[in-house]
Amino acid sequence: MLVLGIESSCDETAAAVVEGDGTVLSRRVASQDAAHRPFGGVVPEIAARAHVEVLAPMIADALDEAGVSLAQIDAIAATAGPGLIGGVMVGLVTGKALALATGKPLYGINHLEGHALSPRLAQPGLAFPYLLLLVSGGHCQLLRVDGVGAYRRLATTIDDAVGEAFDKTAKMLGLGFPGGPAVENAAAGGDPRAFAFPRPLLHTKEPHFSFAGLKTAVLRAVQASGPGREADLAASFQAAVVDCLVDRTRLAIEHAGPVRALVVAGGVAANHAVRSALQALADTRGLAFVAPPLWLCTDNAAMIAWAGVERIHAGLAPDGLDALARPRWPLDPDAEAVRGAGVRA
Ligand code: KG4
Ligand code: ZN
Repeated sequence: MLVLGIESSCDETAAAVVEGDGTVLSRRVASQDAAHRPFGGVVPEIAARAHVEVLAPMIADALDEAGVSLAQIDAIAATAGPGLIGGVMVGLVTGKALALATGKPLYGINHLEGHALSPRLAQPGLAFPYLLLLVSGGHCQLLRVDGVGAYRRLATTIDDAVGEAFDKTAKMLGLGFPGGPAVENAAAGGDPRAFAFPRPLLHTKEPHFSFAGLKTAVLRAVQASGPGREADLAASFQAAVVDCLVDRTRLAIEHAGPVRALVVAGGVAANHAVRSALQALADTRGLAFVAPPLWLCTDNAAMIAWAGVERIHAGLAPDGLDALARPRWPLDPDAEAVRGAGVRA
């Protein structure tokens, strides 16, 4: 079985061909970092236009590299949300056009499901249920993954996503865009104890997250300390984030019931300090720990194609050509709104 994956929900355009057994035959990603850098963040209109320019030739290249023709593809899996709606529409409509032209089934994939199932692409045989820490630019959640399409949200952020906190911190420190890798690099040369930043919500009874107060504390410290302290500020910020993620995940392990593994996914899962702290936590709880390779943590189309494979294996029906593009699309539609939280999914 061969699935073509298409991803365009934020600022990465991506296409990939994945086999039913998880062999990745090709994966292409075009980052738009240079286009957004002057603005210090992702500009939705620029992102959508860039996807239009790049996506079709990229799909042709991904098929070429995989050594297959469109006629040999069994299904098309395109991200249908959540994300920046202009970009989502570019990828989804491209997927629909290919499905219409070839008569192949179309799967409209939830981008978060792509992240959530990516550890099973990284580690074939990883069994359900597992506890998932999903940490990206737009999301910060703990979910119990019971199966394909079966997600129970245990916690979410009541304000900012953790990736957003990395990006804002990078901006405040003048470290550039994208922020996560820049903060991680700067932190490597700094003292994590130099600044005593708050650990919001630590030790509360529900494993929710909050990063707005930490962000404000970093801003005050930046203003008070003047130039030259970037490495110490970055290291102290990252240490606070790691403490929050570990404390909240530890609590979620208690709330989750029996699970086989602790799994981390999403762009922030590329952070080495986060990965090693979670590995240590899993070790103390006797849980297996799975973190996808770095290329699979940040946005890519192999995880979207893989989610398509998983849906086919699970016997789930494809979507029609009338599939919706959704700016918001929670993985657990039954999760209750959290007091203090904004409208984020
Ligand atoms: O999953 P992703 O590629 O896109 C979304 O779906 O949001 O995640 C992007 C986020 C950005 O906020 C980025 O700064 C963060 O992941 N990120 C990192 C690292 N690499 C990417 N954060 C911390 N450390 C990193 N090494
Ligand atoms: Zn993502």
